[in-house]
Amino acid sequence: MEFNNVYQDRDRAASYAGLQFPGTYYLAYRDLPEIIGEGMGKHALDFGCGTGRSTRFLTDLGFAAVGVDISPEMLDQARQIDPDGDYRQVADDDSAALGVEAFDVILAVFTFDNIPGSSRKASTLERLGSVLADDGRIVLVVSAPEIYVNEWESFTTSAYPENRSAGSGDIVRIVMKDVDDGRAVEDVLCTDEDYRSLFAVSGLTCATPCDPWAGPTSRSNGSAKPRSQPGRSTF
Ligand SMILES: C[S@@+](CC[C@H](N)C(=O)[O-])C[C@H]1O[C@@H](n2cnc3c(N)ncnc32)[C@H](O)[C@@H]1O
Repeated sequence: MEFNNVYQDRDRAASYAGLQFPGTYYLAYRDLPEIIGEGMGKHALDFGCGTGRSTRFLTDLGFAAVGVDISPEMLDQARQIDPDGDYRQVADDDSAALGVEAFDVILAVFTFDNIPGSSRKASTLERLGSVLADDGRIVLVVSAPEIYVNEWESFTTSAYPENRSAGSGDIVRIVMKDVDDGRAVEDVLCTDEDYRSLFAVSGLTCATPCDPWAGPTSRSNGSAKPRSQPGRSTF
């Protein structure tokens, strides 16, 4: 499957740079402070930081945060918005670029929507697990399959009826309504079941699945393993 990261594009990056937390994004981020916890004195990695919105979110929670991304165009925007921030480019499958630090929290907001193939997703999760502190936590915010077949405050998919027949691993298209760039974003569909399998093969335990659509009390707590507990937040 040929998949291009649509965020490696100067115009899209410039358009994304103005995005804050409107509409559906409010829901996606709403429960994160409670899930992630207080950051004072702790280190966080923002994997797939884009233009730095999620990195600055971590900094505002008190974390010493490092933002990493594969897209130089998105990182250029992050550095312009936040010249004092720590933003680094990472190549795919490059563990060394993530550094040797043991992060208390690794956050990836919508990044895994853009990573094709289960083996690449799994190797990325393993890579993140290798730089996680012993009692650290990986928090993934990913798009649930429903987002690609409905209309939302912040997204439209009406031009892409073929999304309805997409299966896990297939490319799906969605248009962001909160940015000027009206070109479709290409994502890779991944079901909840497949994410759970990926956690298992990557040696991670899914501790705190959360569905923001149903509200902050909808979380079901899994076992509290001392290491590598990715929460999954969907909307
Ligand atoms: C939808 S944007 C989200 C940006 C940011 N987390 C936010 O919430 O505003 C997804 C980002 O993931 C990045 N990305 C995709 N694949 C990646 C990879 N393998 N490694 C690092 N970043 C990646 C893209 O370049 C893009 O900037």
